[in-house]
Amino acid sequence: CGIVGYTGADDALEVVVNGLKRLEYRGYDSAGVALQTPDDDGTLAVAKRAGKLVNLEKALQEEPLPAATAGIGHTRWATHGAPNDANAHPHADNSGRFAVVHNGIIENFAVLRTELTDRGHELVSETDTEVVAHLLAEESRDMAAAGAAAGGLAEAMRRVCRRLEGAFTLVAVDAAEPGVIVAARRNSPLVVGLGEGGNFLASDVAAFIAYTRRAVELGQDQVVRLTPDGMEVTGFDGAPGEVREYHVDWDASAAEKGGYDYFMLKEIAEQPKAVADTLLGRIGADGRLTLDEIRIPDRALREADKIVIVGCGTAFHAGLIAKYAIEHWTRIPCEVELASEFRYRDPILDRRTLVVAISQSGETMDTLMALRHAREQGSRVLAICNTNGSTIPRESDAVLYTHAGPEVAVASTKAFLTQLVACYLVALYLGQVRQTKWGDEIGAVVRQLADSGRLVEQVLHTMEPVRELARSLADARSVLFLGRHVGYPVALEGALKLKELAYMHAEGFAAGELKHGPIALIEDGLPVVVVVPSPQGRSVLHDKIVSNIQEVRARGARTIVVAEEGDTAVEPYADHLIRVPAVPTLLQPLVATVPLQVFACELATAKGHEVDQPRNLAKSVTVE
Ligand code: G6P
Repeated sequence: CGIVGYTGADDALEVVVNGLKRLEYRGYDSAGVALQTPDDDGTLAVAKRAGKLVNLEKALQEEPLPAATAGIGHTRWATHGAPNDANAHPHADNSGRFAVVHNGIIENFAVLRTELTDRGHELVSETDTEVVAHLLAEESRDMAAAGAAAGGLAEAMRRVCRRLEGAFTLVAVDAAEPGVIVAARRNSPLVVGLGEGGNFLASDVAAFIAYTRRAVELGQDQVVRLTPDGMEVTGFDGAPGEVREYHVDWDASAAEKGGYDYFMLKEIAEQPKAVADTLLGRIGADGRLTLDEIRIPDRALREADKIVIVGCGTAFHAGLIAKYAIEHWTRIPCEVELASEFRYRDPILDRRTLVVAISQSGETMDTLMALRHAREQGSRVLAICNTNGSTIPRESDAVLYTHAGPEVAVASTKAFLTQLVACYLVALYLGQVRQTKWGDEIGAVVRQLADSGRLVEQVLHTMEPVRELARSLADARSVLFLGRHVGYPVALEGALKLKELAYMHAEGFAAGELKHGPIALIEDGLPVVVVVPSPQGRSVLHDKIVSNIQEVRARGARTIVVAEEGDTAVEPYADHLIRVPAVPTLLQPLVATVPLQVFACELATAKGHEVDQPRNLAKSVTVE
C-alpha cells in the first residue's frame, strides 16, 4: 500500500492527493484521506472510495472537504477484507477523533479486535488496521485519566506499537492535536521529507519529490512526530532515535509520462538509456570491471563456494538468467530461488555462501525476509536494486544499484533489463576477482555487453510488425512460450508479462520439456512463441530448438519465432519471424525480452486493458 502524510502551510488535501498519485503503483484497490480541519468540532474529515484514485478524486469534487493544513492518505493493495469503501483506509475510532492509515499486516489483530469489541468498541471494517485507531483512542483516554496526556498522540502510538505483532507502517492524526502527524514503522517502509514550511511522511520519496529533495530514513521500530517545522524520533520505548538524512537525486520528470500514452511504453522506450546508465563507469577501456560499490572484501568473494540468488516475479527471472552466466563464467555453483519459498525450507547457508537479492523497489517483503534469514546464517548478501536508500540495500552487506530511474508501470521492463546487466557485471566481476581464465570468449562478451544499449535500441526500431501481430492475437485464448538455456527464463518472462497485462493464459516452458507433457496443450492455431538461441557457438542447442519448433508446428501450432538476424535455419518453420541482433547466447535475453514486452503491452491494449495498473497487482508488495 502507499501512504502519505503532510503538515504545513500548503493545502493538505492537494499535497496528499498529489502524493497518492505518485504512490498508486503500490496498490489501487481503494484510496482515502483524513484531514484535520480548522473548524474544530473534535472530529476529522474523512473521504474514501473503493477502486482507483480517480474514484476518490471524483467524490471529492462532488462533496469537497474543508481546507486543511494537515492530513494523511492511503492507496490500498487489499490483504484483509475485500476492496470496498468500508475497508478503504483511513480508519477512524468511534469518536471520529483519530484516524490511521497502514501498510503491512498486524498479525495479532484478531485477538485485539475481540478484546476491543468486548470493551464496547464497534468495528465496522474487516481490516486488521481498524484496531489501531481504536487502540489509539483507548490509550489517549487512559493517558488523560492518568494525567499523562502531555505525551499526546506520539506516546499513544508508542504504547499501541508495543502491543502489535507483524509488520507495519502506521500514520495517524488526532483532531485534538492540530498540525501534528505521527507515524511508526516496523519491517515496512517509511521516509520523512523535510520541506520549506511543511513536512512529509510517505512510503517512498516519490510521494514528495515534487516538493522537497531532503529525505530522512527512519530506523526499525521507530515513532516519528512531525510538525510543520519539526521532527522528533524515538524508539517504541520512548528513547531518542537516530536517523539519517539524505538527498534524493531522482529527476521528478522521470516519473511523468512525457508524451507517451502509458508509463509502460515510455519505460520500454527508455531501455537503451537505462542499460547504458547501468553500465556507465563500470567497464574500463581495457575491459576490466570497476565495481567499487561491492564492499564485500575480495577475499570473501574468492572464498565463496556457492551463490544463491533470491527474488520475486520478474526479478526472479533475472536471477534464473544470472545462474547460467555465473556458473559458466565463474564455475561457482549457483542456485536461484523464489524469495517467498527460501527461508521456509531451511536452506543450507553459511559464511561461504554469497546471497544475491534482486529487487527493483528494494521493499519487497518476501525478498527482505529471505535476505535477513541469509544474514542470520552468516552469509553475505549483495543486493541488486533500483531504489536508492530502500530497505533491501540498507540491510545488505553491499549493493550494486541499477540505474533504470523510477519505474512506474506495474509490469517491470527497464528495471528487468538493468537487473540483467547488473547480474552480468557481478558474474564477470567474480570471474575477475577469482582470476578465472580470461579467454577470448569473455573479452568478446564484455565488449558486447558494453554495447548492449545500442543493440536494445536497434530492436526497438523494428517493433511495428510485433505490434501488428499482437493486435491480431487479441482473441487468442492462450499463448505458450518456449526457450532453451537462457531462452527458457526469457520464455517465462514473456508469459508472465502476458498474464499480468492481458489476463490471458500464458505459460513458459523449457522447449525440451515440452514432449514430456505440455505438448498435449498444442491444438490447431495455438500461438507458440519460441526464443531461439544463436546458431553460433552452441549450435547443438540451436539445432535442438529448430526440432522443437517443427514438433509444435506439426501439431497445428502457429509459430512465432524470435531468432537472431541471419539465422536462416528457422525460416521454413516460422509463421511469424521476429529478428533480434546477433549477440553471444548468454547476453541474448537483453535483446530477446524486448519484443515480448512490446507484444504483451500491445495485446493488452488491444483488449482494452489498462497496462500500467493491471487488476489485482501492485508494483511493490510489502507484505509476505
Ligand atoms: C511485484 C510486481 C512484480 C515484481 C515483483 C518484485 O509482484 O508486481 O512486477 O517483479 O513484485 O518486485 P521487486 O521490486 O522486488 O523487484
